[in-house]
Amino acid sequence: MLIDVIAGARPNFMKIAPIIKAIKLKKLQGKNIQFRLVHTGQHYDEKMSNSFFDQLNIPKPDVNLGVGSGSQAKQTSAIMIGYENLLQKKKPNICLVVGDVNSTMACAIVAKKEGVKVAHVEAGLRSYDMRMPEEINRLVTDTLTDWYFTTSNIAGENLLKSGVDEEKIFFVGNTMIDTLFENLGRLKSPSFWENSLLKKSNYLLLTLHRPSNVDVEKDLNNILNEVSKAARHLKVIFPTHPRTLGMLKHFHTLPENLVVVDPQPYLEFIFLVKNSLAVVTDSGGITEETTVLGIPCLTLRDSTERPETITIGTNELIGTNIELMKPYFDRLFKGKWKKGEIPEKWDGKASERIVEFLSGFGTV
Ligand code: UD1
Repeated sequence: MLIDVIAGARPNFMKIAPIIKAIKLKKLQGKNIQFRLVHTGQHYDEKMSNSFFDQLNIPKPDVNLGVGSGSQAKQTSAIMIGYENLLQKKKPNICLVVGDVNSTMACAIVAKKEGVKVAHVEAGLRSYDMRMPEEINRLVTDTLTDWYFTTSNIAGENLLKSGVDEEKIFFVGNTMIDTLFENLGRLKSPSFWENSLLKKSNYLLLTLHRPSNVDVEKDLNNILNEVSKAARHLKVIFPTHPRTLGMLKHFHTLPENLVVVDPQPYLEFIFLVKNSLAVVTDSGGITEETTVLGIPCLTLRDSTERPETITIGTNELIGTNIELMKPYFDRLFKGKWKKGEIPEKWDGKASERIVEFLSGFGTV
């Protein structure tokens, strides 16, 4: 059985690494299972892509579609054309897609039209905010999927509500957390750690990349000023996504305690999360990592597709009205942030469960 494993953008790489490892292990155990790693090239540079392959021991892609950046439609269509060409040369039995980026949706559409079964890892997440391209990617992918691998019972319920058959839904846990547990013993301090006088819990970590937060100069400026003010005496370490950096280049001044650094490789980034007092972010995936690490997380969004990070974990949804942040920071500085727990099945074994199921599907 041949499985195409699709990876396109930064948040995909930590999700596919443990799945590939589990497929290799299954093969060693004598199962007829192999993979073809397809990198769409949605993210392509050293900091957004290559460093993750190196640090997470992901093998060199068998195929790189090399699509690069572009508008939503340009990028999506380039991935579709590239993947269709590949399938016309050789079809796998299963196309496995992860998450919610353009590559996920584009490859799922092509695979389904070519008669290839689709497995979606992290299926069923819903923010119910149709302004997010990721929500559209999730909805489209989940209408085409044959096997749904979910990270929570809520995701399973979302799928049931939309009419998916119960027997197609497999609650397996979270592959991103597999990677987190696998690498906790290998974390590295970033090169600027000592020079910036950083120590455990003496800084905040900030990440921003959503178009709604970073594409309008005034809004980004407001967020940076308010977060830096709310941080009081602490430094705010800000690894900048290329999209955000593009906008920052127009700024004449930045708050004094804001430390702008490059996008970090995986081991350095998790090191920064684990040692921070708190994380302020507009990412979805990071709220899962902070939940498992027990680090307070303040999310600058109005909705989340990962509600368990709030009901069970350490995350709070602050919203996009930045002035409403103050009470959350008061709670943080008083040491009264909720402790949180680790959600069910976020135990480092999700990828094993996925591959166990896939290998059982046999001749599909
Ligand atoms: C994409 C995903 C988003 C994910 C994010 C993580 C979609 C719709 N969005 O958004 O879900 O959370 O990745 O990073 O799929 N760029 C580089 N180098 C790269 C990649 C991109 O400089 O390796 C630049 C591009 O030129 C572009 C900007 O970053 O200006 C945005 O890249 P793009 O892939 O279009 O979207 P993201 O905002 O990264």
